[in-house]
Amino acid sequence: MQILDGKGLSDLIKSQLKEKVTAQVAEGKKRPHLAAILVGNDGGSETYVSSKIRSCEEIGYKSTLIRLENTITEEELLKQIKAINDNDDIDGLIVQLPLPKHINVEKVIESTDPNKDVDGFHPVSVGRMVAGLPGFLPATPNGIMKILEHYKIDTIGKECVVIGRSDIVGTPASILMSRNTNPGNATVTLCHSKTKNLKEHTLRADIIISATGIPNSVTAEMVKEGAVVIDVGTTRVPDASKKSGFRLSGDVDYVNVAPKCSYITPVPGGVGPMTIASLMLNTFQASQGK
Ligand code: GUN
Repeated sequence: MQILDGKGLSDLIKSQLKEKVTAQVAEGKKRPHLAAILVGNDGGSETYVSSKIRSCEEIGYKSTLIRLENTITEEELLKQIKAINDNDDIDGLIVQLPLPKHINVEKVIESTDPNKDVDGFHPVSVGRMVAGLPGFLPATPNGIMKILEHYKIDTIGKECVVIGRSDIVGTPASILMSRNTNPGNATVTLCHSKTKNLKEHTLRADIIISATGIPNSVTAEMVKEGAVVIDVGTTRVPDASKKSGFRLSGDVDYVNVAPKCSYITPVPGGVGPMTIASLMLNTFQASQGK
């Protein structure tokens, strides 16, 4: 069994980006600039956004963090997004999800300039991904593809089971894994909350990608000997032994599943850091040609 070190790969990608930015600035070009909007103060979102801003600083990007109250109106949020769309110095924009219930997420996503959509959530980006055209790929699924590529994991013709059909992970991961690319070319089954007999599907899988956010829901008896297991879950569970009072739990019962796998991602240190590396790659891409 080999552990897929997402943290190490993310550090490598970020150091390569740092070199490129240093060279580009030496040539008199601008630094890539990422703007992040954080609404409210959800603990998980605070952590993710501060990691994204920290990564910008490490690489040498400019960053702008816009913090807004939980009570902000949809109209005011859309105004803030328009101001960023109109600001030529800003290359990429992310609005951290989830948003408060009174705000229409689709409206917010569609109001982002597709040229600054470094999360890859805009319908233009999704359409380009489905059509196999160049564009911004969503950060988490693209991070998974980068891990598979880096470790030269064979995906061609393999049975891949994706668990969870969210817009931002499961659905795009199923598309990227089935495209005629490498990694890709897998035979993909997308399982979700209405799937009957999940275990029947997972037991056939050469590659399992779990993105449900349900701790320990992928158990050893669901996994074939030698499978590759990618765990996207990062759920906060109470843990009195930690200073913070919680720890991060993946979807996979790691202790019992890992011995059966050929490869597995840990939580933390697997897919999470790769999400940030992909966002940094997209931000660099957004800044090019300026
Ligand atoms: N919430 C959970 N994952 C993500 C992500 O990749 N981007 C944004 N903007 N919000 C998220």
